[in-house]
Parts: sequence; structure tokens; C-alpha cells
Amino acid sequence: RTVRLMSGPAVVVLLLSLLLTLTAVQAQGSSQDSFIIQYLERRLVQIEVGHCTHTHTLGQHALCPGLDQCCVHRSEMKNQLDGVSVRVDRMERELEYLENKIPTQGDIEMEEALLEQQIKDAELDLLKTKAKIKMDRGKEASVSNMALSQIKSLKIVKKAGDASGSWFKDPTAGSEKVYLLSGFYNNTLLEYHSLHSFTEKNSSTPAKVLQLPFYWQGTGHVVYNGFLYYHKADTPNQILKVALLNTTVVDSTLLPGAGRIPVYSLNPNTYLDLAVDELGLWVIHADAEYEGKLVVSKLDKASLAVEYTWDTQCPSRDAEGAFLICGTLYVVYNTRYGGRSTVQCLYDIHNTIHSEESPVLFFPKRYTSHSSIHYHPGDQQLYAWDDGYQTIYHVETISDRRVI
Ligand SMILES: *[C@@H]1O[C@H](CO)[C@@H](O)[C@H](O)[C@H]1NC(C)=O
Ligand SMILES: *[C@@H]1O[C@H](CO)[C@@H](O)[C@H](O)[C@H]1NC(C)=O
Ligand SMILES: *[C@@H]1O[C@H](CO)[C@@H](O)[C@H](O)[C@H]1NC(C)=O
Repeated sequence: RTVRLMSGPAVVVLLLSLLLTLTAVQAQGSSQDSFIIQYLERRLVQIEVGHCTHTHTLGQHALCPGLDQCCVHRSEMKNQLDGVSVRVDRMERELEYLENKIPTQGDIEMEEALLEQQIKDAELDLLKTKAKIKMDRGKEASVSNMALSQIKSLKIVKKAGDASGSWFKDPTAGSEKVYLLSGFYNNTLLEYHSLHSFTEKNSSTPAKVLQLPFYWQGTGHVVYNGFLYYHKADTPNQILKVALLNTTVVDSTLLPGAGRIPVYSLNPNTYLDLAVDELGLWVIHADAEYEGKLVVSKLDKASLAVEYTWDTQCPSRDAEGAFLICGTLYVVYNTRYGGRSTVQCLYDIHNTIHSEESPVLFFPKRYTSHSSIHYHPGDQQLYAWDDGYQTIYHVETISDRRVI
């Protein structure tokens, strides 16, 4: 336990309130609450670990020319953030979680009231601390970048296929095509003319059934400009690029260091998760030798060559998915039992958005278990597969971020 962690009354209050909560919930002894206990225990550990380690900065700019294109006007003002505001942010996150989670447990009325009182007390302390920090700081530090600010709305568009799978729209500008890959092991995919023909029961343009030359594995596939990129089944780390026009393999590569453990612990069949954002094609995997932390690599979409690789601090444990927006990886966490998904860890390859300064982002109030989440940069939407339901989340990004 570091001195930094224990310094500052705010953190002591936070830890105390969490421990009190823990004890109260534990005393209840209900198995339904076990995930709350697990969550709180995990968060305590994460807070401690987070304060002991440093994210490393790499010379990405030199190695990845052209990556800056969409992420405009970054400033170095970030460095001015002080540690206290970081701790306040963390405290807020814990409170927000408790407020959102606890009231949904129907059978603990007594404890609920108790917890609510604790939350109120802690919130009061938090407000006081924040007011003080604002006065101390005098001036504001700000940074502009394109960052995810909110996962706004949810639209359930269809129920099709197995409990797990993936679906997405080709993110190429001008393409309307929608693809569906049901399950986590098959060689068949469905291609729809548009989202409309995907959702219409009686569509005049039925889906095209495409048979691939090799089976796919997991739920991490993407289509980009008419090419399907996917993890070739029964190989640890081979990525294939298949032209969907004639379903022939046009390229293939092996992703170094990948394939030993699932990329997200809550989706045990997916070892490689491909993603597309404003900057291009990415692949995410978990590194067995790096405590199961997530590793993100930028791929050349033409040749599949790895352009650069970043080690993130985001754990694979209790993660169910991730997506990239403008070069920032957002990792989505949940519980084994299916709960409310949250983005609790992020990694910005430009090193301007920091995980510990960003609030936890909640998915809309609903019990979910996502087997895949794909971002579409043109639509600013996430295409997700939630236990057999195909859903769309609308996301909001901000390019001007104000800190405190
Ligand atoms: C592959 O998908 C087809 C159509 O969805 C299904 O009939 C078949 O059982 C699947 N095969 C496997 C191995 O899951
Ligand atoms: C669907 O198609 C069938 C036969 O083509 C037709 O009888 C039915 O009315 C259509 N349903 C809807 C909702 O359009
Ligand atoms: C299939 O299509 C791709 C892309 O259009 C092309 O590069 C490739 O040569 C084609 N392969 C065959 C066997 O026709």
C-alpha cells in the first residue's frame, strides 16, 4: 500500500465507505449480492495497483505517421492535473456505481437505507473537497481531443442467431452493407443489403449467404471495404483477410504473442478482437505474460502487417469487450452473471486521455452480456450482440474536454 494512496482525507473516506459497504453487504449473506462484494474488492485492489504503476509513454508519433489526422489540437495541459482531482474522480465513480447498482437489489430494504445514508455522507464530503480544490486551483486546465463522453441510447433491432455472435456494418464511407456472424465457430456469414433489409422481416432483398474457405473463431471479426478480417479457427493467432466478392483469401498474418488466453475473460471463445475506428484497422489481444493485460496493435489494412503495438494497463479480467474511437481503446467490463456494462478502463495511444482521470461510462440501464461490440466511426454507433439480440448504442463524443 503506497503512501500516495493513503494520503489525503478524501481517499480515506472513500476506502472507509467502501469497507463499510462491503461489511454491510457481506453481513446480508445473500448470494445475489456476491457480485457487488466481488466488484468492490476488485475495485479496491485496482485502485491500489493503479497508484503503484505507471503507464508508459511510447514514441508513437514517429512510428505511426498519419495517426494524428483526426485527433486534432492536443495540448500538453494535461500534465498540470494534480493528484487530488484524480482521486476525487475515482471517488465519484465508486459513488456513481453504488447509486446505480445497489437500488436494483430488491430484497435488502434495510441495508439499502443504510447504504443510501453512507452514500449521502460521502457525497457531502466529496462536494466539500471539490469546492476546496476548485478554489485552490484557480485556473482550469483543459485539453481538446476526441473522447467518448457518453453511451447514450440503446436500440434493440433484432433477435437472430445464437446467444453469442457478432454483427456490424461495413464502416467504409458509402457502404450500407450489414453482416451477421452467428455463434463463435462457423464458416457461414450473412450479408444484408442495408440495415433496413436486416431488420425487415419481409425484406424484398434477402440476405446473401456467404461460405468462407476457412472457419472463423470467436466474435472479433470485422468487415472493412468489402474484406472480412477474422481469426482463422483452430489456429492460435492467424488472421485472414477474405475478399467477400469472391470469398477468397487475399492475405494472412500471424499476430505475435497472441492466442494463448482469451482477450476478454467473460468471452472465453474470442482470442483476437479486430476493430475499426477513424484511424483504421486494429487488433486487440490479451498477453498471458503481462498479467492478462490487453495489448492493442495497429494493422495495415492492405497487407495486415503490424504497424505498432501498445501494452495497456487494462485488465482482461471481467472484461466482455472493447472498441476504439480515434485511437483510444475503451474496455467494457461486466460480471459473470450479466449486469450493467461499464467502460472502466481506457488507453489512448496518443497519451492525452488518461484512464484514471476519466469517469466510468455506464451503458444504458439494462442487464446485458455482450459477446461483441463494434464501433462504426461514420455512424458514431456501437453494434453489439447482447445474448442473441442485435443492439445499437449511440455514442456521444466530445472534442473539447474540460477537466474539473
Ligand atoms: C453454422 O451456421 C449454420 C447456419 O447458421 C448452422 O446451420 C450450422 O449448424 C453452424 N455450424 C456450426 C458448426 O455451428
Ligand atoms: C410478408 O410477406 C408475405 C408473403 O410475401 C405477405 O403475405 C405478408 O403480408 C408480408 N408481411 C408484412 C408484414 O409485410
Ligand atoms: C477476389 O477478389 C479480390 C478483390 O477484388 C481480388 O484481389 C482477387 O484477385 C480475387 N481472387 C480471385 C481468385 O478471383
